[in-house]
Amino acid sequence: MTRVLVLQGPNLNLLGTREPEIYGHDTLESIHAGLAARAAQLGVDIAFFQSNHEGALIDRLHERDFDVVILNAAGYTHTSVALRDALLAVHRPFWEVHLSDPWARDEFRRVNFLHDIATATIAGHGARGYTEALEQIAARFGGRA
Ligand code: DQA
Repeated sequence: MTRVLVLQGPNLNLLGTREPEIYGHDTLESIHAGLAARAAQLGVDIAFFQSNHEGALIDRLHERDFDVVILNAAGYTHTSVALRDALLAVHRPFWEVHLSDPWARDEFRRVNFLHDIATATIAGHGARGYTEALEQIAARFGGRA
């Protein structure tokens, strides 16, 4: 069974109340509950981790107990050489997901340390983007559906 790690970066724990006009009204808990249900349908194993700390995200990647990552690195997308290096070091494909479309926003969000090494990027689809990533992963790497 394909093992998917959903890795969520800083401030995503505040989804639901954080700038809902940009990020929507779904909480992280409800997004994860929806993903867990879809993963069960698809026959994919799924785990979740959120942190506001760069090193904690990197430590979680170093555990390497997954086959594929769905990653919303949030603000670290635009700043973190260390997260990029960790993704390359663990040799696991990852889907880059953003609720909003960073390329359509502030100029500084066009700086992206992860995009060119991601297997795929889904941006601007809101919470649905995570489900789309999961479905693409199941189609690519296996699952029951
Ligand atoms: C985000 C976009 C980033 O620019 C921002 O820093 C976030 C969330 C998104 O999901 O749209 O925290 O990754």
